Amino acid sequence: MKVIVLQEISSIMSIAIIFNNKDPEIWKEALEQKLKGVTVEIYPTVESPEEIEFILCWKPDKGVLSQFPNTKVIQSVGASVEHITNTQKLNHETVVTRIVDENLSLDMFEFLLSSILFKMKNFDYHSNQKQHQNWFPTNYKTIKETTISILGLGEIGSFVAKELLKIGFNVKGWSNSIKNISGVKSFQGEEELYHSVADANYLINLLPLTLKTENILSKRLMSSLKKGAYIINVGRGEHLVEEDLIELLDSNHLSGALLDVFRKEPLPKTHPFWKHPSITITPHVASLTNVNSAIDIVIQNYNRFKNNQELLNVVSLKKGY
Ligand code: GLV
Repeated sequence: MKVIVLQEISSIMSIAIIFNNKDPEIWKEALEQKLKGVTVEIYPTVESPEEIEFILCWKPDKGVLSQFPNTKVIQSVGASVEHITNTQKLNHETVVTRIVDENLSLDMFEFLLSSILFKMKNFDYHSNQKQHQNWFPTNYKTIKETTISILGLGEIGSFVAKELLKIGFNVKGWSNSIKNISGVKSFQGEEELYHSVADANYLINLLPLTLKTENILSKRLMSSLKKGAYIINVGRGEHLVEEDLIELLDSNHLSGALLDVFRKEPLPKTHPFWKHPSITITPHVASLTNVNSAIDIVIQNYNRFKNNQELLNVVSLKKGY
C-alpha cells in the first residue's frame, strides 16, 4: 500500500466534487450522510473555491483544478488517474489518490472471464450464424489449452491473473517490474514485452496510461501474437493504435477484439469500429466503481487528511500510476 504523510493540519470543512460522465449526486449524498457537518459542493456550484482542499474527481475538464488554488488532495473515484494527471497542472505538493477496491478487481475478472469464454466457445460466431438460420458446428478450445497474457500486473491485473490461473488457464504477465505471483510467468521491460505475448491466445491490456504505455498495442506487438489471437482492451483507448488493429483483423492475423475503452468516449457514431465484424464493443463498463464500497475509501482518506495521517493509495506523479 502506498502512503504519504501530509505535513499541515487542515481545518477543511468542505469537499468539492468535479465529475464528467458520472452522477455526482449519489456521491454527495453518501458523503454527507457519513461525514456529518461537512459541506459537499458540486462543481461548478462551489461558493468559495479557495477554501476547498479535498476534491473528488472524475475526468475533470482541462485545467479546471487551477480554480482551486488551495487543493491538497485530489481523490480519483476510479482506479485510474491519467484523466487528472494528464489534464491538470498539478503543484508538486498536491497528493493524488485513487480507488483500490477488491470489488473493482472482482468485477474486472468477471468481465474478462465472460469475454474470453464467449470467444473461446464461439458464441460470437454462432450468434452471427443464427441470423442466417445456419447450423454450423465448430471446434472450440478448452481452458487448459488456452494461454492468456496480461499487460499490467498492478492491483487489478494481479488479481485477474491469479483468478484465471485458478480456473486452469495458462497465464503470463508483463509489467514495469517483475511480479512474484506463483504460477504466473512475469516479464518486465521493453525487451521482454514481445516475448511475453508470443504464445498468447488472448492478450488483455490492463496497463495504466502513461507516456511509456501509450500506443503499446501496436502492429509490432499485436503481430507478435499467434495467428488467431484475440485482443481485449480494458486499459485506455490511447493504448491502442486503431489502424494497426484493423489491419491485423482484416489480414486475419487476429481473430477479433473486444474493446471497452476508446480514445474518444462515447465512441463517435461514424467510427469504423462500430461496423467491423470482428470487433465487439462495450461502453466502458468492464468494471465500474461501486459507490457503496468506494465511499468508505474516500472517507478514510478525508479523515486521514484532516488528522494529518498517511493517505491511502497515493499515486506517484512521476510514474503516473
Ligand atoms: C475505470 O476506467 C477506472 O479507471 O476506474
